[in-house]
Amino acid sequence: MKTVLSGMRPTGKLHFGHLHGVLKNWLRLQEEYKCFFFAADWHALTSEYENTSNIKNDTKEMFIDWLSVGIDPKKSIIFIQSDIKEHAELHLIFSMITPLSWLERNPTYKEQLQELKNKDLSTYGFLGYPVLQAADILIYKASYVPVGIDQVPHVELTREIARRFNFIFKTKLFPEPEPLLTDTPKLLGVDGRKMSKSYNNAIYLSDKPEVVEKKILTMMTDPHRIKKTDPGDPDLCPLFLFHKVYTDDEEREEIIKSCKEALSGCIECKRRLLEKMKNEINSYWEKRKFYEENIDKLNEIIDEGNEKAREFAQKTMEEVRETIGI
Ligand code: TRP
Repeated sequence: MKTVLSGMRPTGKLHFGHLHGVLKNWLRLQEEYKCFFFAADWHALTSEYENTSNIKNDTKEMFIDWLSVGIDPKKSIIFIQSDIKEHAELHLIFSMITPLSWLERNPTYKEQLQELKNKDLSTYGFLGYPVLQAADILIYKASYVPVGIDQVPHVELTREIARRFNFIFKTKLFPEPEPLLTDTPKLLGVDGRKMSKSYNNAIYLSDKPEVVEKKILTMMTDPHRIKKTDPGDPDLCPLFLFHKVYTDDEEREEIIKSCKEALSGCIECKRRLLEKMKNEINSYWEKRKFYEENIDKLNEIIDEGNEKAREFAQKTMEEVRETIGI
């Protein structure tokens, strides 16, 4: 069975954008592959080294988000990067063979340096971000890495590092992983802008069902449809993006028709959506409550995931040391 691996930096609670952009994809993958999903807390340090107080708690919250939507510890190995020290050792070894120029020309590096001007990112660790990521991926010999388009250069660098390692040490130890890009539905926030914590427009996985309902009911719709009798355009309506995810084709056609011909209003349309989302949201909430009330169970899952990941990582590191001759 081929191996899939992906990681997320623990930077705060996840929302429905993450759910449909990332987690639904992981749910499919865990049915088919050996999956490793981990909290990249060392990667969080590369930009948050001055503000580390939330990392531990954010990691737990992130795991509860994953578990609540159905990431299943019986199927997937869930673990914490910093608990598997072998990642750091492989990172160190890769740092010896990675040309600086590969890192300096990395587009995400250049972009973030520009964008995050309020942080001093002129550090060794930040430049080496993709080297650590390569260690994360290659230590499990992953074949596929499901990531967003912004992360593709990092997977490409991982391939180059694997190739260079194999070339220098005349080995076939590391496979070259491929990014898995899936077409994910775009969801917008309640104000029609990109869903984001910083815009204060997100619907969170940790929102109570009543809160989700309230956010949907007050969500912006086609801004040109002012009165119920105005015809609307679903293509201009952020709510309709949710119908694209939750409502079947036949019913959606009918929704399009009644919007365009002003046969029904936005509140009715929202209620129909909530009806479709209801079971999912309630089940998320139930699972979340379970883990929040049984933190021991969560810790057990993490311990077990760490154990399995560590076993694999240790084996790879033995091979690496043997190959290099140290
Ligand atoms: N850099 C990734 C992100 O910001 C997180 C990450 C760290 C990762 N290590 C990884 C993703 C390994 C995939 C594989 O989203």
